[in-house]
Amino acid sequence: MAITNLTADQLRDMYLKFFESKGHKIIPGASVIPENDPTVLFTTAGMHPLVPYLMGQMPHPAGTRLTDVQKCVRTGDIDEVGDAAHLTFFEMLGNWSLNDYFKREAISWSFEFLTTKLGFDPSQLSVTVFRGEGKEGDEGYIPADEEAVEIWKSLGIPDERIYRLPREDNWWGPAGTTGPCGPDTEMFIDTGKEKCGPDCRPGCHCGKFIEIWNDVFMQYNKNEEGKFVPLGRHNVDTGMGVERTICMMTGAKTVYDTEIFAPIMAKIDELSSAEVVSKLSEEESLKARRVIADHMRTATFILCDPKGGVKPGNVGANYVLRRLIRRAIRYSRILGIAEGFTVKMAEVICEKYKHVYPELAANLEQCRADLEQEEKRFNATLDKGEAMYNKVAEQLKLHGQSQISGKTAFKLYDTFGFPIELTLEMAAKDGLTVDKAGFDEANLKHQELSRTTSAGSFKAGLQDNSEVVTRMHTATHLLHAALHQVLGPTANQKGSNITAERLRFDFAWGQKMTDEEKQKVEALVNKWIEEGIDVTMKMTTVEEAKAEGAMALFGAKYGDQVSLYSIGDISKEICCGPHVKNTKELGSFKIKKEEASSAGVRRIKAVIGNM
Ligand code: ALA
Repeated sequence: MAITNLTADQLRDMYLKFFESKGHKIIPGASVIPENDPTVLFTTAGMHPLVPYLMGQMPHPAGTRLTDVQKCVRTGDIDEVGDAAHLTFFEMLGNWSLNDYFKREAISWSFEFLTTKLGFDPSQLSVTVFRGEGKEGDEGYIPADEEAVEIWKSLGIPDERIYRLPREDNWWGPAGTTGPCGPDTEMFIDTGKEKCGPDCRPGCHCGKFIEIWNDVFMQYNKNEEGKFVPLGRHNVDTGMGVERTICMMTGAKTVYDTEIFAPIMAKIDELSSAEVVSKLSEEESLKARRVIADHMRTATFILCDPKGGVKPGNVGANYVLRRLIRRAIRYSRILGIAEGFTVKMAEVICEKYKHVYPELAANLEQCRADLEQEEKRFNATLDKGEAMYNKVAEQLKLHGQSQISGKTAFKLYDTFGFPIELTLEMAAKDGLTVDKAGFDEANLKHQELSRTTSAGSFKAGLQDNSEVVTRMHTATHLLHAALHQVLGPTANQKGSNITAERLRFDFAWGQKMTDEEKQKVEALVNKWIEEGIDVTMKMTTVEEAKAEGAMALFGAKYGDQVSLYSIGDISKEICCGPHVKNTKELGSFKIKKEEASSAGVRRIKAVIGNM
């Protein structure tokens, strides 16, 4: 494909006009803070503000064919920001059919726009489609999307470039815990790079295939029990990322190297200390520049949102905003940027976007005031924390020691608000080590204590923390994961009780499990035990854990920070622990009984073997 110098302004314009020519009404994008959806903190996709219309609850005033550009915030992968691809804020172009056209039109128009407007050669295009789930006649059966396959073929995409993938890859939504969702077909541009291995395919992270567009066929609603119920409507929801598309179209190395980020990066360079930067590796300074650019762009859009009301704070969206600003400040120090920079960043960002998003100019004054205050607060915290850290380091050296204990690192964090990352960074500079595992443990203990009352329902399942109970607890997570694999994703935990003798696990399921299903579940758990999979824990927020696909108890209350336990790729659950370090420690697993517990809920009693 010829490299162009297409700008974001031109792309937005081209996209909206194209869909206007196909009978769509251009509607304004919505607030980045969702209006009526308590299940998410930010608008994460263009479909989000359209949920009631996709559900058919009311007609949209602009009709049944809509197109817009939507500001989106996704903070699920905040720790990944700094690499070439992850952004916490992006603009999404989209077109919708509210029970109007369906697959043929949606796919054909996507193809037409990609090839005739953006100029991609059809030979560069690879696509994925939903391969179906379950068996016909079974509850939860969802057929493969052969229709999408046929449409792609009719447009000239050969079978070998049509990948049929499972739900993990080709199912989109809902945006929160419930709502419209469905199978999708994703379009990828093949960059022409060599495959990284025999399994390399669209969705692989090696960079050969870059996703450019997603057409979702929203025919289902995920209800509060986690069931996928046909909506009785054939909606289309599509999404194309502006930043990524511009990156591809212009041949830029990363999104940060596009015209979109140019003035933002230039400002960061202007504010950085050349002397400080010269002492950093290229990788260090690159990461810091990207984190600042990304986080300040997101923070500015949140603070200037027309809906308003999100200020840096300690819970929910306020906490995410605080984290973004504070993380940007931490990285600004790495580049030797002087205090007061957040306001300067917001000004540049406003300048770049105000013609598209007038709210940036309208709310800049308030945004400035909020940033100034937060930066002052955090700097004061950091100064105090740094002074405390220095005392600790001095004492250690005085006593000829070289490790900061987990307890001390936790105290710096808990009492003085000093981020663990800074303790780690400063310790490394001073030639000291930090007992990070000890820190995590202290942190976890603290979380458990502060959560005992609020998450009483969860905690109540655990009688004591003895070794066998710990092992049983990990077995419960494996059982939960196995039930999901064998019965499907609706077989969700409804209760758990563990004693030293057995585990008891209640889950949503309407009928008696067959012997074959029970055997499959048992065999899976035993296979995972045998494989000796590591169990890991990290502290994160509920939103981030959920965005990573973690299971959480519906209706349970969690604190700001939660512990997320992962067992390899098999299970991810928000949970207080404790857990074993490796599944091998469970020995073996046996289901003793499977019975009804209450309407729609089954109960399994199981035991684990000796080690
Ligand atoms: N809602 C779909 C997405 O975000 C289009 O990918």
